[in-house]
Amino acid sequence: MSFFSHRFGIGHRDIAIDLGTANTLVYERGRGVVLSEPSVVAMNEQTGAVHAVGLEAKRMLGRTPASISATRPLRHGVIADFDVTERMLRHFIGTVHPNRFSRPTVVMCVPLGITDVEKRAVDEACMEAGARKVHLIEEPLAGAIGAGLPIDEPSARMVVDVGGGTSEVAVMTLGAIAVSQSVRVGGYDLDEAILGYIKNRHRLAVGSGRGEELKFEIGSAGPLERELYAEVRGRDLVSGLPKVVELSSEEVRSALEEPVRAIVTAVRETLERTPPELSADIMRHGMVLVGGGSLLRGFAERLHDETRLVTELADSPLTCVVEGAGRSLEEIEALERSDRIARAPARS
Ligand SMILES: Nc1ncnc2c1ncn2[C@@H]1O[C@H](COP(=O)(O)OP(=O)(O)OP(=O)(O)O)[C@@H](O)[C@H]1O
Ligand SMILES: [Mg+2]
Repeated sequence: MSFFSHRFGIGHRDIAIDLGTANTLVYERGRGVVLSEPSVVAMNEQTGAVHAVGLEAKRMLGRTPASISATRPLRHGVIADFDVTERMLRHFIGTVHPNRFSRPTVVMCVPLGITDVEKRAVDEACMEAGARKVHLIEEPLAGAIGAGLPIDEPSARMVVDVGGGTSEVAVMTLGAIAVSQSVRVGGYDLDEAILGYIKNRHRLAVGSGRGEELKFEIGSAGPLERELYAEVRGRDLVSGLPKVVELSSEEVRSALEEPVRAIVTAVRETLERTPPELSADIMRHGMVLVGGGSLLRGFAERLHDETRLVTELADSPLTCVVEGAGRSLEEIEALERSDRIARAPARS
């Protein structure tokens, strides 16, 4: 590395970012994944100052004093609160890139089918947060590269990405997406479904973070060999007093059925719309599951039962989207000449 390039940050220290509804990950060229934090920001409401970002802020969700609010600035994969997203990105980029004079080139992962306005918002948030140049890559494509699929070959491959706020299904061939579908259903909707069930069935109000914990502990998308149980503590909605109930994995499975079915339906509909030549390839290779939501117990088996295709969980479902985007960063000069990654549309 020459003194010149080190000093001015040319060619290296560029980064890829997976700005997710649940988690933001950063990959640094030549180093790999250097940051993985929840996409949460805690702010002081009176002064507007950022109080905490990431894991520290997530721990505050639902537990903040009146003057501080902890929020998630993304909804269903897209920016819902621009200012807070920009501050969160500035914080994360600053953490991995403390030298503010070497503005990095950034490859940003974006959900399928986002509008030009949403693309510009992502581009602007990155530029405001200190990027020199921003490229966009679609998440399923990045996920496929990260999972090691040979997507440049003339043989179709299928990826299902179940995130916190969206699920995306894509069939790819020759390095581009041929058929796809996305639904605004992800891991958060599963958490909400569990909380809703506990409230309606057991008349119990519990902390919002408990939904996700119960999903990890006893959640499933299909029958288990042995049912699991968990204790749930909360406030009785009738008496107003603290109460404990025992919840079974069977109950949680019934609560999760509707959102799980929505994801399964998106996969089936994508298969139905896939041209026969590509279907033949998918039959041979099956589908690869990425995104944290695909780690739900029994989810891969459920998709296999419903499609009769081989379903394979990626080695590292939570990081493979940013790893794929990072790999494209390693070849950025060549990719800038191709159309796999794109600059955000210019303002009209
Ligand atoms: N072991 C697990 N079982 C079930 N769900 C899990 C597990 N681990 C993580 N998750 C869920 O995965 C989701 C986060 O996944 P991921 O980080 O891929 O989402 P994201 O990329 O931030 O969201 P999106 O792509 O929708 O914007 C959360 O809803 C989390 O609860
Ligand atoms: Mg994601």
